[in-house]
Amino acid sequence: MENLKLNHARKIVFLTGAGISQESGIKTFRDSNGLWENHSVQEVATPEAFERNPELVQRFYDLRRLQLKEVEPNGAHKAIGLLSQRPNYEVTVITQNVDDLHERGGCARVLHMHGELRKIRNVLTAETRSLLEEMPMEMRSEWRPDIVWFGEQIKHGDEIMQVIHEADLFVTVGTSSEVYPAAGLFQVAKSAGATTVELNLEKTAVSDHYCHSFQGKASVTVSAFIQQSLGLA
Ligand code: OAD
Repeated sequence: MENLKLNHARKIVFLTGAGISQESGIKTFRDSNGLWENHSVQEVATPEAFERNPELVQRFYDLRRLQLKEVEPNGAHKAIGLLSQRPNYEVTVITQNVDDLHERGGCARVLHMHGELRKIRNVLTAETRSLLEEMPMEMRSEWRPDIVWFGEQIKHGDEIMQVIHEADLFVTVGTSSEVYPAAGLFQVAKSAGATTVELNLEKTAVSDHYCHSFQGKASVTVSAFIQQSLGLA
């Protein structure tokens, strides 16, 4: 990483996944033999699951929402937040994560492509509201988590494509790159002329297709990468 110099980069996009929040204490999806907090993703993160067992799904997201009060942004979220506050840089985070750790880490421009735990949506009118607690019992039949479940369309698609096309540098952090369309976004950035970098605990199936790929914990690699490649102290 020492020799990597990307001083020209001004428009920087980070695509983040569960790995960036792992050191804050939030479990990733593909830990624990494919179980997410003891549930298969199909059991709690599909529209069919919500139809079949709404109470299980609501309870699951209640617990995830409450968990946010117990976790804090880690060094990786904060390093991106600090960079975003520097003059001369335009930083956008595209995240697959539904937590709010990027916002709390100081980043103002965060596009949650898979929705947000702290938002709920009316199933009839599509109105959204913020909710920081458990979903009240009387709301449970008409409101659902504003989360993108499997089979549903990602959020902010047009804006995501626009920032990627304008990016000088596209950095992926902490994602297994197994879920599309997120996993293919770096290819769009690369074709549009951006330098692409992967920072992940381990190699992924697409590591060799990035311009650069580094392995390590996000709390270490993200700040090291920002300091060394952009020449920032
Ligand atoms: P995954 O659980 O699939 O992948 C997390 C990645 O982070 C793995 O490749 C880990 O090696 C890596 N990792 C773990 N700890 C790390 C650390 N401390 N530092 C750096 N990397 C670390 O999570 P996602 O790729 O985010 O979708 O999963 C993508 C989507 O699949 C999720 O948004 C969710 C899920 O099913 C929906 O719910 C629609």
